[in-house]
Amino acid sequence: MTSNSKTVSFTLNGEAKTFATEPDEKLLTLLRREGYRGTKFGCGQGTCGACTVLLDDRAIYACLLYSQQAEGRSIRTIEGMGSFDNPCDFQQELINAGAVQCGYCIPGMVMSATALMEAENDFDDEIVREYMDGNLCRCTGYEKIWAALRKVLDRKEASK
Ligand code: FES
Ligand code: FES
Repeated sequence: MTSNSKTVSFTLNGEAKTFATEPDEKLLTLLRREGYRGTKFGCGQGTCGACTVLLDDRAIYACLLYSQQAEGRSIRTIEGMGSFDNPCDFQQELINAGAVQCGYCIPGMVMSATALMEAENDFDDEIVREYMDGNLCRCTGYEKIWAALRKVLDRKEASK
């Protein structure tokens, strides 16, 4: 840290946190430095979605947000979703479908899907594409990822 270092405080996965940061530090860098490595560095330019987190429940690219822009906000990362022993519904369906290849895109996919499921009641394909089209899979496993998500969404629709 330098003489320009500041602190930033925000809620991270439901817990109040304060971190030292630099004026030009991106949220992605801060999260990974602090051990939240489930959020991935892909392009660093807002084009791949590997770094997707939720900012006040909306999916954003953490590689584009300065850490200080998170001041006072709510940030949610993949660490706040499921765990190895207790995966969230989408994670479980991804496992069931054999949809995880290298896995690099998956945390971002899960975060975008979470934003979708929390914000919408209607899960027609067009809406789902709107939420998910910022998340690229370099292994090109889209069909299985889509099928896994569709299962979760169809269950939600059926339970309305
Ligand atoms: S690393 Fe942020 S969009 Fe690719
Ligand atoms: S599973 Fe490898 S990038 Fe999607």
